[in-house]
Amino acid sequence: MLVMDNVHAGYGMTKVLHGLSLEVRDSEVLSVCGPNGAGKSTLLRVISRQLALRRGDVMWEHASLKQVSPSQVVRRGIALCPEGRRVFPRMTTEENLQIGAYARSDRSAVRREIEQFLDRWPVIARRRDSAAGLLSGGEQQILAIGRALMSRPKLLLLDEPSLGLAPVLIDQVYVALKELVEERDLSVLLVEQNVVKAMSLCDRVAVLNGGEITFSSSVTDTTPEAVGSHYFEKVAE
Ligand SMILES: Nc1ncnc2c1ncn2[C@@H]1O[C@H](COP(=O)(O)OP(=O)(O)OP(=O)(O)O)[C@@H](O)[C@H]1O
Ligand SMILES: [Mg+2]
Repeated sequence: MLVMDNVHAGYGMTKVLHGLSLEVRDSEVLSVCGPNGAGKSTLLRVISRQLALRRGDVMWEHASLKQVSPSQVVRRGIALCPEGRRVFPRMTTEENLQIGAYARSDRSAVRREIEQFLDRWPVIARRRDSAAGLLSGGEQQILAIGRALMSRPKLLLLDEPSLGLAPVLIDQVYVALKELVEERDLSVLLVEQNVVKAMSLCDRVAVLNGGEITFSSSVTDTTPEAVGSHYFEKVAE
C-alpha cells in the first residue's frame, strides 16, 4: 500500500503540491483526474523519486521513500509509465522491453516475458527488430506500458495513457489495460484527463486541483459529470 501524507513539492519558486494526502490500496486501481497543470505528473514524479519532497512523506509498504533513489524505487516494485508514450524511438521494440527489465537479474524469465508480450501483440511483434518510433501512437503506448511492466511492479504509475491518441486507439489501450489489471495482482495509480475512460477501469477516483485532493469516491458512488464538476471549483490559495 502507498500512503502520501501532507506532501509538498514544486519546482524552484513554483509550489505545485501543497498538503496532498492520498492512499493507493493493495490491488486497487485509483484514478487521479484533474485539469492541465494541476500537478498530476508532479505527483507521479514525487512517488518515483524524480522530484524531491519538500514536506510530508511517501510511505510504501510501511517504509518511507524519502531517502530512496529512483532505481531503488523500481526495485521495490513501483514502475512509472511516463506521459507522452515515451518509448525510445530509435531503439528496437525488443530493446525497449529489455530496458524495462534493467533492474532484474533473472534473464531467462525476462526473455520469456518479452516473448509472452510479443505473442499477445502480433502487430507490435512484427516490428520487434525495427525502431519503436515506427509503431503507431496506440502501439507505442501499449509498448510503453509493456516496458513498465517488465520490472514486475506491484504498483504501476500511469501518466495519461490516452493523451494525444485518436478515440479508436484510446479504446485499444484501455482494453489492453483492463486485461493486464485483471490478470495480475497489480495496484495502479492512473493519472488521466479522460474521466470516462479512467472510470471504466478504476475502483476509486480522486480529483487533484490546486495542488491537493479535493474529491474522492468509489466509482460506483459517483458519475463522470460529478467528478468533472470538481475540476472547476475554486481552491483557496
Ligand atoms: N520541470 C518543471 N519546471 C518548472 N515548472 C514545472 C515543471 N514541470 C511542471 N511544472 C509546472 O508545475 C505545474 C504542474 O505541472 P504538471 O506537469 O504536474 O501538471 P499536470 O497536472 O500533469 O498537467 P497536464 O494535464 O497538462 O499533464 C504546472 O504549472 C507546470 O507549469
Ligand atoms: Mg501531466
